[in-house]
Amino acid sequence: MRQPLIAGNWKMNGTRSGAEALIKGVLEGASLVGRAEVAVCPPFVFLDAAERLLAGSPVRLGAQNVCTEEGGAYTGEVAAAMLAEFGCRYVICGHSERREYYGETDEIVAKKLAVTIAHGMTPILCVGETLQQREQGEMESVIAGQVDAIMDRNGVASFAQLEIAYEPVWAIGTGRTATPEQAQEVHDFIRRRIAGQDPAIAAKVRILYGGSMKAGNARDLLSQADIDGGLIGGASLAADDFLAICQAGDAVAG
Ligand code: 13P
Repeated sequence: MRQPLIAGNWKMNGTRSGAEALIKGVLEGASLVGRAEVAVCPPFVFLDAAERLLAGSPVRLGAQNVCTEEGGAYTGEVAAAMLAEFGCRYVICGHSERREYYGETDEIVAKKLAVTIAHGMTPILCVGETLQQREQGEMESVIAGQVDAIMDRNGVASFAQLEIAYEPVWAIGTGRTATPEQAQEVHDFIRRRIAGQDPAIAAKVRILYGGSMKAGNARDLLSQADIDGGLIGGASLAADDFLAICQAGDAVAG
């Protein structure tokens, strides 16, 4: 059984005081979550405060991005070594917003995964198709392309050291969730794609769902055989909403 992972992707939201209050709110309810793993991924500038507040708790810390390079003259970037120093366990890599707005290619995403793993952290590799791609019947080829691009560059063995998040672009921030059956179909497709190269790694890799996951739909999604957690955007910005999803993760884990 793969332990569910519920990770909050705060995106570019919050203030210093708001971020601290949100972490404290999550911590207050975290003791009720025993079986699911819980993580929060605040913006870089809040990582320091988050690390201090989370110290000694089971709630893990993650970052939303990382530089492909080790360090040096890369203005505005943040290196993997810095994230590791600030206690990050996870790094979201290749989110569709980064692919779309910042031109991140599969090649860049593969480098981010590699540098994250090299620094002892676990990447959360995001994949997903747009609405147009889905409607044109290209869902499988898009997902296969994104997964293969990493297997080809970094090797299937790297999938033993990462998490995957299937995030259909049409479901992100739209309130339009993939049905549990739609999501399960893609999760199963991803797992089979990896199994084509290494069945043991495919059986172990966690595949999270992301895209308008909320308290009201989390349990149905998380009950699917190949949905091993959630990457939560909007609903991770309120502690009660996020904790309700974590509890749904706990319920399916039990
Ligand atoms: P929403 O939960 O706001 O749809 O965002 C999902 C997401 O992009 C998580 O990375």
